[in-house]
Amino acid sequence: MYFYPCLLYVAGLLVAFAYDDISYKRVASQSHTIIGLGNEASNAVDRKTSTCMRTLPIGRNNPQKTVWWKVDLGGVYNIQSINMLFKNYDGYEDRQRGRFAGFSLYVSNTGVIQGSRLCYKNGPHDHLPPLNFTAICPESGRYVIFYNERYAGVTYPTGFELENVFTELCEVIVKGCRNTGYYGRNCDSPCPTNCKDSTCHIQSGACFMCKPGWTDIHCNKKCGDGWYGLNCSQQCKGHCRDGATCNHVTGQCDKGC
Ligand SMILES: *[C@@H]1O[C@H](CO)[C@@H](O)[C@H](O)[C@H]1NC(C)=O
Ligand SMILES: *[C@@H]1O[C@H](CO)[C@@H](O)[C@H](O)[C@H]1NC(C)=O
Repeated sequence: MYFYPCLLYVAGLLVAFAYDDISYKRVASQSHTIIGLGNEASNAVDRKTSTCMRTLPIGRNNPQKTVWWKVDLGGVYNIQSINMLFKNYDGYEDRQRGRFAGFSLYVSNTGVIQGSRLCYKNGPHDHLPPLNFTAICPESGRYVIFYNERYAGVTYPTGFELENVFTELCEVIVKGCRNTGYYGRNCDSPCPTNCKDSTCHIQSGACFMCKPGWTDIHCNKKCGDGWYGLNCSQQCKGHCRDGATCNHVTGQCDKGC
């Protein structure tokens, strides 16, 4: 009776710590860097909480209105979570949270926000983000991008800092599987064979997309008769010999016309 909750607790710890840190010392870059030593983008992936990246301030009356920071993981990986540590100054925690507020997190294969997947956006109805913030983000991708903005003429929620909004990320820890194409608590289960790009949901193993010719959550079903290709969205042309259906991958008549 009494050790059951205890087992659950231990299991929870295992889940929390099983994934790999896949952003450590990867190549990081940012939209603009404030002049001065020790403000580089790479400070957010050095695993020293005392060094932070720092950009030019954004704000209604600042020349800069938008800011981004990104890390190139070096390959396409299955991701579980993104933890960010925003700089704190004793006595200024609310101001720092107001600077952090409103940010977005994207996962991307190309490194540009257009066409990438939004994994989290702060506000307008959330509380101001805690300075140690974790987003659960079961996606696959090569880049993780942090983005924030402050435009003139936009009404922002209470608590948002609007002027001289410095972005100072001390650490960005992306947890996922360092083994490309693997998922599961120990990153030791291969993604289903027919997942596109060998990427899948890090907990369930479901494919994000299938290779051409395949369908269903684990992409282990052929396209229905008469259909082929990516998403099974192409219709066979017909006229195959003996009334056969076309090849589910290529759309060709395997045994001739
Ligand atoms: C941030 O919070 C997580 C738990 O939510 C904790 O494990 C981690 O140590 C915290 N990081 C810092 C630098 O305090
Ligand atoms: C397949 O489906 C995905 C997601 O629904 C979509 O983004 C993509 O454009 C589709 N591709 C084709 C060829 O239909």
